[in-house]
Amino acid sequence: MKDAIDSAIELLASSVMTFRGRPVGTVAAMDPAGPVAANYHDCFVRDFVPSALVFMADGNHAIVRNFLLTILELRSQHIGVYGHELEPAMLPASFQVIHDPESGETISADFGDQAIGRVAPVDALMWWVILLGIYQRMSGDRALALESGVQRALRSILDLTLKEGFEVFPTLLVPDGSFMIDRRMGVYGHPLEIQALFYGMLITTLELLLDSHENQALIDLVTQRASSLRSYLRLFYWLDLRQLRTIHRYKTEEFGSGSINMLNIYPESIPEWVADWLPDRAGYLVGNLGPGRMDFRFFALGNLLSILFGITTREEAARIMLLYSDRWPDLVGEMPCKLVYPPVAGKEWMFMTGSDPKNVPLSYHNGGNWPVLLWAFTAAALKTGRGDLAQLALETAERTLPADQWPEYYDGKRGNLIGRRAHLNQIWTAAGYLMAHRLMEDESLLRFFPRDSDG
Ligand code: GLC
Repeated sequence: MKDAIDSAIELLASSVMTFRGRPVGTVAAMDPAGPVAANYHDCFVRDFVPSALVFMADGNHAIVRNFLLTILELRSQHIGVYGHELEPAMLPASFQVIHDPESGETISADFGDQAIGRVAPVDALMWWVILLGIYQRMSGDRALALESGVQRALRSILDLTLKEGFEVFPTLLVPDGSFMIDRRMGVYGHPLEIQALFYGMLITTLELLLDSHENQALIDLVTQRASSLRSYLRLFYWLDLRQLRTIHRYKTEEFGSGSINMLNIYPESIPEWVADWLPDRAGYLVGNLGPGRMDFRFFALGNLLSILFGITTREEAARIMLLYSDRWPDLVGEMPCKLVYPPVAGKEWMFMTGSDPKNVPLSYHNGGNWPVLLWAFTAAALKTGRGDLAQLALETAERTLPADQWPEYYDGKRGNLIGRRAHLNQIWTAAGYLMAHRLMEDESLLRFFPRDSDG
């Protein structure tokens, strides 16, 4: 164990990126053998989160402060397309520092305009706000959030995400691949992970926004939206056998008020695996929900963050952890945790992923196991009093992670094969593992995550 921790610390330290002499982030991977994908020398906003948590747990707040400010400065690099400009509140997915012997160091951001598939990273602005809140709580530095540029950024992020569009639900509508799963995976619409982050972000802004007369209307709006979002997720995303039985006998095509099956989910759309797989005492939040559409797949990060941020009730949180313990071989196996269960195959894979060879069944986003999830799993397990599961997950992970050189993801039903195209020395793998340890050593770190009064 000590060797594993030392190896992870060493890797994390070697991944720090500097800009004009100041540490500003960590690169995505340091694969010694290459070929590292073109953008793995970038610092990704979402990848930096576990690194930031470890740095702050170890008392290093400066790098996180620099990172938060760097991201804001990078907004000036938005490239406008004639007749269509990206929202100014959008934050980059990643950035890189370019060293040129003549012109010196420059920094360059990717707003999704460089990324594969050209997806806009909606999660980046949410993680940025959530991280700013954690930074404030852990460092005690309130001054950063109060800077006028930061307050302006918070307001514009809220303006963008609370803007009335064509929606009738409190959830947020996003395109496919706009979060950790950054490829086509049938995750457009109202994916759980985005909703969990949205909620975490909203309750964080309530703490960060200056409590002024000018902000009062916005604060009221955020308060209402957070509350209706949470109720909606609890009511409509929650699935257990009781709810499945209700859906199985749903009346459809109900008009007007008083209807039960408001979203018109056809019982015929329930996939075969669910009823056999879901234990009586367990439950989870489904992956996505829209008109006539319920995605029954289990998405790990969305469920874990929902526990952590207090979206689920205590009872629901406990039942999600029971799902983990009852279905451990499927959801954890030999590497915590599987990102999505079950994988899609055949024609469904063709239609859903656009025949993506990286997302073949039981690989990468489509049923691969991602060790970075270890920190979120540990946090959720500790919060629900299941330290035993956290311990088991950690022991399982450290059996192989250091010897395998911290792979990005694993393949296979049990997650026992290093991912076919996984990068080695993936930084968030090492950081996720370290953060899981920090949490096990000091459970009180949980208090730094966003949660509202009864979460
Ligand atoms: C992959 C992942 C994405 C991550 C990036 C860098 O594209 O899907 O979530 O941010 O790699 O590690």
